[in-house]
Amino acid sequence: MLDALVLQQLHRSRFDADPMLFAAPGRVNLIGEHTDYAEGFVMPAAIDFATLAAISPRTDGRIALWAENYGEARLLEALPTERSGDWSDYPLGVLRMLADDGHAIPGLSLSLWGDVPLGSGLSSSASVEVATAVAVVALLGLPYSGPELARLCQRAENQFVGASCGIMDQFISANGRANHALLLDCRDLSYRLAPIPAHVALVIANTMVKHSIAGGEYGSRRAEVELACSILARHRPEIRFLRDATLEDLERWGDEIPEVARRRARHVISENLRTVAAAEALEQNDLEQVGRLMQAAHRSYSQDFEASCAEADRMVELAEALPGCLGARLTGGGFGGCTVNLVEQEQAAAFKTALGRQYRERTGIEPEIYLCRASDGAHRLTL
Ligand code: GLA
Repeated sequence: MLDALVLQQLHRSRFDADPMLFAAPGRVNLIGEHTDYAEGFVMPAAIDFATLAAISPRTDGRIALWAENYGEARLLEALPTERSGDWSDYPLGVLRMLADDGHAIPGLSLSLWGDVPLGSGLSSSASVEVATAVAVVALLGLPYSGPELARLCQRAENQFVGASCGIMDQFISANGRANHALLLDCRDLSYRLAPIPAHVALVIANTMVKHSIAGGEYGSRRAEVELACSILARHRPEIRFLRDATLEDLERWGDEIPEVARRRARHVISENLRTVAAAEALEQNDLEQVGRLMQAAHRSYSQDFEASCAEADRMVELAEALPGCLGARLTGGGFGGCTVNLVEQEQAAAFKTALGRQYRERTGIEPEIYLCRASDGAHRLTL
């Protein structure tokens, strides 16, 4: 179990210094998949899995990193300009971007420890980046706002780590709110918070099929989305991203788009509509409508976007048939990872047991199922 007090003690004994402590959560996306880089809408919530960061200054000018999860240290004389392909890329990428913003990076010791399941589509990487970022800007006394922190961390991932992700994960990790989902407009980063009612549990079911956004499928989907966009833009130049396109545009000029890219575009354009509608339904406490939209979103993600997998489709299908399930869909970048389920609180424990048993019987895989709470975004911890 993550424990800030334990991390504080580990940091003290390793670096002989009293650290400041921070936490940055992972996330689950309720709806709005592969829409963020098309400048569309997403509606994630921060969850109660997180990365903790302990930070203290050093007088020798070096950068010392400790990853409690891996039991590994790094000691650097200077910031690297290239990635090394391991866990240290995430914190170092953030430091690199701060340096690129013109901030001198002084000597510092940073300890990291997280419990966001890795490779499960719950944004463990974003939580490491955001935990690093809040810790370092506090150490340096820099006035980064939550949205600015998110942009900084996205740049670290795009430019240093080399993964072409959008803004969703970093944004919600930096700006989430307990008991709320957040509808984000990825064009201008304006957002509204929508309360998740107390009678609804957030159940996350891990298919145990590993997911990675560094893998080729994420990038190839993104390229197909951009191809469809560029073809529509020939007719309507104001279409800069698929966010600007309508289903009518696709109807009218879709013949010119290769069939696969056309289906990818149909997913993104319809997903934007569903996401905004789901936020309105949540605000009106219409959970049945939220559930219907999640169901439609999963079909679209699986069939048009082809970003699901047999195990995730099975997990969703089993969930939808269980008592108390309001909505279920694959969450995150796709090709494995977790499903998100909105479940009546009273039935959540029974749902968890039944879903776990049925998934194991049908797939032979032992899933992990987490009863989560929508949580606050990155913050300082005071013990
Ligand atoms: C990953 C990326 C996000 C987003 C989702 C898909 O989580 O990091 O930016 O594109 O996939 O919605």
